[in-house]
Amino acid sequence: MAVRQTIPRAREFDSSLAFLREGYTFVSSRCDALGSDLFRTRIMMSPVVCMRGAEAAGRFYEGDRFTRKRAMPPHVLWLLQDQGSVQTLDAEEHRHRKRVFLRMLLDPEAIARLARTFRGELNRVVRSDGAHSALSVQDMMQEALARAAALWAGVPFAEEEAAARMRELAAMVENAGSIGPSNWGAILLRQRTERWGKGKIEDIRDGRLSIADDAPAAIIASHRDLGGELLPASIAAVELINILRPTLAVANFITFAALALHEHTRWVEIFREDGHDELRPFAQEVRRYYPFFPVVAGRVRKPFDWSGHHFAARDWVMLDLYGTNHDGRIWEEPGSFRPERFRDWSGDANTLIPQGGGFADTGHRCPGEEITLALIEEAVGFLTRDIRYSVPPQDLDFSLSSLPALPKSRFLMADIAPA
Ligand code: HEM
Repeated sequence: MAVRQTIPRAREFDSSLAFLREGYTFVSSRCDALGSDLFRTRIMMSPVVCMRGAEAAGRFYEGDRFTRKRAMPPHVLWLLQDQGSVQTLDAEEHRHRKRVFLRMLLDPEAIARLARTFRGELNRVVRSDGAHSALSVQDMMQEALARAAALWAGVPFAEEEAAARMRELAAMVENAGSIGPSNWGAILLRQRTERWGKGKIEDIRDGRLSIADDAPAAIIASHRDLGGELLPASIAAVELINILRPTLAVANFITFAALALHEHTRWVEIFREDGHDELRPFAQEVRRYYPFFPVVAGRVRKPFDWSGHHFAARDWVMLDLYGTNHDGRIWEEPGSFRPERFRDWSGDANTLIPQGGGFADTGHRCPGEEITLALIEEAVGFLTRDIRYSVPPQDLDFSLSSLPALPKSRFLMADIAPA
């Protein structure tokens, strides 16, 4: 027991308000002040250990030590964690369900197909909306990504329902960090998407909707659990949402990519003069530099000791994603946007962790990293080569205390024309 007292404690008795106020820098500012990569505090009166850095990420992701069950506050869980879905499973059951996602999301041909579909939708959105005076990159990308994801998955939106579905998916992403009415509203909207998804799964299973066997919605609809049973349609629907919602969420990174191009114009020149090899380093730096999820949370499944602390079963732990991506021991000049750093990056999966850490074969969870990178690259190619636009005066600031962070104006473009 004594060993549990050795790590420092944050000054506040309960850090809930400080976390809401400080957002992305909450964990790292305390680690810096306390001179420790881990500290104890309380959030919503529950004891929690916060930790940051590559070594902490290694401990968090290796050896099935953590479960995600009961690790997120309910208001986040209902919008992002999808009850009954892959996120809530552990060990063999988790690995079995996860195969569905790996089959759909890591196949290079499937990724290329999604990227092409996205480019087609981008051209369509610009053709239909481009004549208007100004268009926000965030809105344009959310629309193109949602439509592309649904088409690619095999469940394209009917025109009359597209706006509602896109609004529901966007609300899940944009309100996960809020508390109160906007969060409750998003939860209500989510129930409509779940009903729509359940209907699609039932249509596929009953043959009313005929789609290719390798379309993601068909893979989900036909997946059987470890006991050989098809997933209940409501859970299959939740897994379908589990690919549509995060694909739309890539819009946040793309809006930040547009901001990076605006603030570092030499990259626009590089991409216009080919620069194909530079797309990956640029997209990686967007994921490292700009904020998305501040932390991931887990509860200890397999007790262990690390850094003078005993992590007991069910202890609540938060790993600092943003702080690790900005850790000066890992990244030279972490506060500068420098895609060059990724030209010959070693690929250590516990250092660049915007979508969680860990190596694919030993505990990494987000299966959407390749897709995220491919979509950011596609969008950067589109913004720099396919179209020309001007950037009208607007408020491009973003706050590290709003979750998720986004430029206030959502990045407005005007005078959009084909290049
Ligand atoms: C916008 C970019 C994205 C970000 C910032 C992101 C971030 C994350 C994070 C932090 C987790 C939790 C990791 C953990 O618990 O350790 C996660 C899990 C997950 N993500 Fe992503 N993700 C993104 C894109 C995607 C995409 C494009 C897809 C699919 C098309 C996807 C599908 C999933 C799934 C299914 C899980 C749960 C996996 C599991 O529990 O095993 N994500 N993501």
